[in-house]
Amino acid sequence: MKQINESLSIRNGRLFVEGCDAARLADEFGTPLFVVSESHLRENLRRYKLAFEACWPEGRVRIMPAIKANPILAVRRVLSDEGCGCDVFGAGELEGALRGGVDPKAISVNGSIKDSSIIRRAIEVDARVVLDSPRELELCEQEGARQGKVARVMFRIKPFMSELETTSDFAPDAQIREMTQMIKYGIPTSELLPMGPRALKLAHIDPVGIHVHMGRHSKKMEVWQSWVRHCTLLMGRLSRSMGGWLPREVDFGGGFPSFPDKDTDVAVQGYAGPSLEDYASGITGAFRDAMREVDMDPTGITIEVEPGRGLHCDTGIHLTCVRNIKQEVENRPRKWLELDTSEVFLGVPGLNESPPFDYIFANKANHPADTLADMVGQTCNAELLFNQVRTPAAEEGDVVALLNTGSYVEPMAANFNALPRPGTVLVCGDQAEVVKRHETVEEVFARDVIPARLSTLRSSEALEA
Ligand SMILES: Cc1ncc(COP(=O)(O)O)c(C=O)c1O
Repeated sequence: MKQINESLSIRNGRLFVEGCDAARLADEFGTPLFVVSESHLRENLRRYKLAFEACWPEGRVRIMPAIKANPILAVRRVLSDEGCGCDVFGAGELEGALRGGVDPKAISVNGSIKDSSIIRRAIEVDARVVLDSPRELELCEQEGARQGKVARVMFRIKPFMSELETTSDFAPDAQIREMTQMIKYGIPTSELLPMGPRALKLAHIDPVGIHVHMGRHSKKMEVWQSWVRHCTLLMGRLSRSMGGWLPREVDFGGGFPSFPDKDTDVAVQGYAGPSLEDYASGITGAFRDAMREVDMDPTGITIEVEPGRGLHCDTGIHLTCVRNIKQEVENRPRKWLELDTSEVFLGVPGLNESPPFDYIFANKANHPADTLADMVGQTCNAELLFNQVRTPAAEEGDVVALLNTGSYVEPMAANFNALPRPGTVLVCGDQAEVVKRHETVEEVFARDVIPARLSTLRSSEALEA
C-alpha cells in the first residue's frame, strides 16, 4: 500500500479514499462525482486548532472555516461536530451555517452591502455581524432596538502596510499595499475612526473586536507579519478614539495556502511558503509584538482564523469517467480521452497549458503512464483540460481521479450546455454516503418561466392547420 496523503492511498493498483475503492464509488454513485474525506477534514481542522493554540497561551483560539469554500451541509456538520465557528458571506451562507449545525453565536456574518434583512436575521439568531461600513452599524442599532437585543459587532478594517513594497501573487505588477486599499471590502479608515465612538454611544451595540482578511496575495511571512502589525496599529488608533476600548476577539480571516493546491487562479505559483505551524507562530508573534507597540494588553483576547482553501482543498477529489477515445494517426497525430466532466464543473479555463489538477487513473493506478493524450471535458467548448499528458493505456470506463478539489470547486460549478451539476459523496472509513445528490435536468430548468402568450407557438398552429 502506498499512502498519497491523509486520506488517499494506492492498494493493489487501485486508488482508495480512506477505506473506499474510488473506481467502485464512481460505479456505485455515478460520475462526475465529488468525493470528500471526513477523516481527512477532521485531521486538517485539528491541525489548525493545535497550531494556533500552541502559539496563543494569552487567550482562546476559534477556528471559523469559511463556508464558501465548501458549503455542503454534511461537510459543515463535520466541522460543527469539531466545535468550529463559521465565516459566512450573505444570507444564503448564513442559512447554510445554521442548517450545518454551527452554534449561531459562533457565526460571523461578513460581506459588503448587507441589507436590513440579513442584519435582522443575524441578530435574531445571535450571530455576530462584521461591519463593512458605518451604514451597517446604524442598521444593527435599529434592528437591535427593534428586537430588544444587543448586536455583537466587529469592525472589518483596512490596514495600510505603509513600508511594504512586495508585489501580489495575483498580479505581479501590483503591490499588495495598493491592492489591499483598492479592494471594496473593509471600512475605509477615514470612516472607521468616527465609527468607534459612535458604536460606544449606541445602546444596542456591543463592539467585540476587529476583523481583517487579506486573501492570498502572498505566502511570504513578512507580508503576513506586516499585515498583522498594521492591523494592530490601526486597532490601537481605533481603541484610542474609543477611550481605550479593548477588543475581546480579533479575527485574522483566511487566505492560508493549501500546499498541494496548484493555485491555477494565481499568477505567481510554484513556491511553498511557510508551514501552517510557522504561520501560526508568525501571526501570533507579530500580533503580540504589535500589541506591545500600541501599549495594549493581549491577555484574554480570542484569536480567530477563517481558513477555506487551506482546510478543505486536499480533503476532496473529483471522479470522472473516460466515455470515449478518439485517435488521429494522419495529419496531426493525437489522442483524445473524452471525460464526462467539464471545465464548468471544475472552475478551470478550457485551454490549460499545464494540468490544472494532479490525476490518478483510479482503476489503473500502477499501470505505466506511457501514452500521450489529451483529456478533454464534455461541453461544446474546446475543454482542453489536460493537454498532451501521460496516461496509462486507456479504455472506455476507466475512472480518473482529479486530486485536491475540496475547496471552491463544487460550489462554483455551472450549468452550461444545460448540464446537471455533479453530486457529492462523503467517505468515512469504509462508508460512503451521498451528501448532495446529482442535479437533474428537471432542476436545471426549474427556474424557467414560459409566459402564457408563448405557451402556444404560432409555428405549431401553422403546422396543425
Ligand atoms: C472574510 C473571508 N474569510 C475567509 C475567507 C477564506 O479564504 P481562503 O479560502 O483563502 O482561506 C475568505 C475568502 O474570500 C473571506 O473573504
